Amino acid sequence: MRFAEHWMGCTVAALRDVAPSIREITLSPDAPVAPYPLGSHVNVGLLIDGQPQTRSYSLVGERQPDRLRIAVRLAPDSRGGSRAMWNLQPGARLEVSSPSSLFEIDWTRNTYCLIAGGIGITPITGIAGALKQREGIDVRLHYAVKSRAEAAYLEELSELLDDRLIVHASDETARLDFAATFAALPADAIAILCGPMRMLEAARRAWNDAGRAPTDLRYETFGSSGLLPTAEFRVRLKDSGAEIVVPQNRSMLAALNDAGYEVMSDCERGECGVCAIDVIAIDGEIDHRDVFFSDHQKQENAKICPCVSRAIGTVTVDTLYRPDAI
Ligand code: FES
Repeated sequence: MRFAEHWMGCTVAALRDVAPSIREITLSPDAPVAPYPLGSHVNVGLLIDGQPQTRSYSLVGERQPDRLRIAVRLAPDSRGGSRAMWNLQPGARLEVSSPSSLFEIDWTRNTYCLIAGGIGITPITGIAGALKQREGIDVRLHYAVKSRAEAAYLEELSELLDDRLIVHASDETARLDFAATFAALPADAIAILCGPMRMLEAARRAWNDAGRAPTDLRYETFGSSGLLPTAEFRVRLKDSGAEIVVPQNRSMLAALNDAGYEVMSDCERGECGVCAIDVIAIDGEIDHRDVFFSDHQKQENAKICPCVSRAIGTVTVDTLYRPDAI
């Protein structure tokens, strides 16, 4: 059960591989898209293994009313979304939600520290472009990648930012040192990050250790980036004891809703907390993939965001769904 959002029809207009495992997909909406915040994402409706599902992708580059660009990494460990997106051909039709952003960027600062990890570069491209056009703004982009050969949009970003682009390639042992990076920032600086969960956690720790205002670190992450492998697991329902299997290619939220245990949701990206449900017991391990709960709350394992988080083994939950009470 998801809060209402506006959907529109789009046609796949063009495909372009921007790295060996990253494909840019240009969509042509049926009607002009209203202005939206830079760094926005869209939800895309897909049929995966015969099941209707949605996946979220950030928009690349500058705003265009008649074009939406997304980039999709082919992830072997995914729940099937990237495979479905890579199978698209020009002319294919898709339902896409209106763009929206969770970054809430303060555009009045003088210093911006942009940080991207892998495919997290996608929303950062448009933000970097907009900041670069403004006078007197100090903007730097730290781009962490496995190798330069696998880095999407490297050439465009080099042209845009020149020496303000710092590439941290793992195969060059140039790892991003968050503590040193944040220590070098002036007091009014804001950091904007998009990357996998592990990166975000490291950045949040360093940001807090540096004594900076938590609200000056803005971020998005990918709900698919957990610390444990994406595998099938079981959910046991408190009271009834019913057990549901969550397949590798379905979210726990979808599996619960499919089985008739309705859970309210909104973002379905692990960001809003609307879907959070109580954890009663764990026989195995929970992989918290949300950015809603703090590290401390995740360690407590008292709640889980089933839209993105998963488990290994069996997790017993209370969805608070009581059909008799309705
Ligand atoms: S629906 Fe927003 S965190 Fe799950």
